[in-house]
Order: sequence, then C-alpha cells, then structure tokens
Amino acid sequence: MEVSRSSGGGIGMQIHQFDASTATDEDFVTIAKTVYTEKIVVLKNQNLTPHGFVELGRRFGRPEPYYESMYHHPTDANIFVSGNLQNAGRSVGVPKTGQFWHADYQFMKRPFGLTLVYPQILPRTNRGTYFIDMGRAYERLTAGRRAAIAGTRSLHSVRDYFKIRPTDVHRPIVDVLRDIERVTPPVSHPTTFQHPVTGETILYHSEGFTFAMTDGTGHRTGDDLLGRLLEETGQLDRSFRHGNIHLQVYESGDLIIWDNRSLIHRALHNPSAEPAVSYRVTVHDEHPFYSGIDG
Ligand SMILES: [Fe+2]
Repeated sequence: MEVSRSSGGGIGMQIHQFDASTATDEDFVTIAKTVYTEKIVVLKNQNLTPHGFVELGRRFGRPEPYYESMYHHPTDANIFVSGNLQNAGRSVGVPKTGQFWHADYQFMKRPFGLTLVYPQILPRTNRGTYFIDMGRAYERLTAGRRAAIAGTRSLHSVRDYFKIRPTDVHRPIVDVLRDIERVTPPVSHPTTFQHPVTGETILYHSEGFTFAMTDGTGHRTGDDLLGRLLEETGQLDRSFRHGNIHLQVYESGDLIIWDNRSLIHRALHNPSAEPAVSYRVTVHDEHPFYSGIDG
C-alpha cells in the first residue's frame, strides 16, 4: 500500500493500493496510527460488499450499531445508512443526516474512537464533508480563553437534532421529547481532554450537541462561554471560509476513516434530489475515549 498526503492542502492522508483481503496486520497498525496522527485517511478505489465493509471496521475495533434502528442497513445493523433511496416503497436509511457540527455519539456516555464512511452513490455535486480539527482549534484559542475553559465540563444532548421516526407521526411532541430524555439523557464530558494516543489536547465541543458548560463546582459557566467557543472555532461561520474548516471532497471508491475524538464534522448540504447513499461503520478502538471516562 502507498501512503501519501491528500492533495488540496487540507488535512489527512490517502492510501492507494490497499486491498483488505491481502492487507497484513502491520498494514492495519500503520493505518490506525496514521488516522490518529493525521486525523483523516482515505482508502482509495475500494470495492467492498456491506459485509466486507463491516469486517474492515472490525480490524480497527468493536463496531457499535446505531441506537436508532431506522438507520440500519437491512442486512447488517452495524451499518448506518444515510441516503434518499427507497426500496419497495420503503426508505432505506435516513436522508440528509448530520448537517450540523458534531462528533459522532458525543451525546452518549461512551463515544467511539473511529468513524468509517464509505459512500455508495455520490451526487454529481456537493459530495463531501466539512471537518474542524478541534486539536488545532484549541491551540488557536487565546491563552485567556484556554484558561477560562480549563477544568470545565460540557453537557451534550441529541435533543435538537433527533430525527422524528416514522413511528412518531401523530404522537404528541411532548411524548417524543420525553422519550429522548429517557433514552439519551444529557451527558457530561470534560471540555478538553488529552488524546489517548497522541497526547494532543482536544476541545470536545460542538454546535449540534453541546448545550451548556459547567465550572469546577458544577455551576453553569457565564459570559456566554459556550457561544464564544463556537464562534472562535469557526462553527458559526455559514460561509464555511473560516481557517479551521476543511472540506473533504469524495471520489467514487473512497473509504474515509477519521478520528472521532479530535474532529468534528458536518455533512455538506445538497439541495438537489439527486440519489445519494453512504454507509458508515463506527468502532470502539483499543484505547479509552479519554483517560478517566470509565471512572
Ligand atoms: Fe456524523
């Protein structure tokens, strides 16, 4: 396999000549290391079945099926399907997922370390994902801001972006909201933590899921600290020209692996009704998400 820097001046590496059926254990170690240090790895020219995609994911950790079944692939619940196609009149997966800044499963107690995305049908335009490297974004904060968030925690919930399920139609919204709070109550994670592999300080914070911050005594922080962090990290820039934002554009056959600890991402909006389908497998790697998460 041949590892090289992705073109375009953004973040990440690309790997040509990777064949999952002949790759060695060392190859997988090299890929995982590269994901942690470079944040994004694109395996080029892949041709995998759904089963093969899940098996590839298993080489990097334990797959976690999404907690809502409406996203599941019909033959393998480990695959999350984002797409707008129908099969025999029924939707397969869910259209227009993730069009807001977030880290996957940030609203859960145990988020997973790696996300693998394998587009199946790419639209002609707007084929890609925006990313922000939250290690670099933390470094770019002023010393005063870094001091202000030291020792704070951030609270996360899926409630703003929970997608109404077919079974929710005609239900009172208050019942749906109660379900969300019961199944996915708010969780608290440190606003910053050390990446368990690289040691880098990561700002773990997103517009989509983070709804409050607390100081070392458990009280809500003031001074709109949350909003200022969103602004300063580039998450409120609707032109997407902020220096922290990287657009990863996809080609047919790309399989993208990214570090779900240090990157937040946002699906590119495609206003057309063109067919688009993407598969995702998410895995818990061998490292704790951050030190002390199980304590
Ligand atoms: Fe996502």
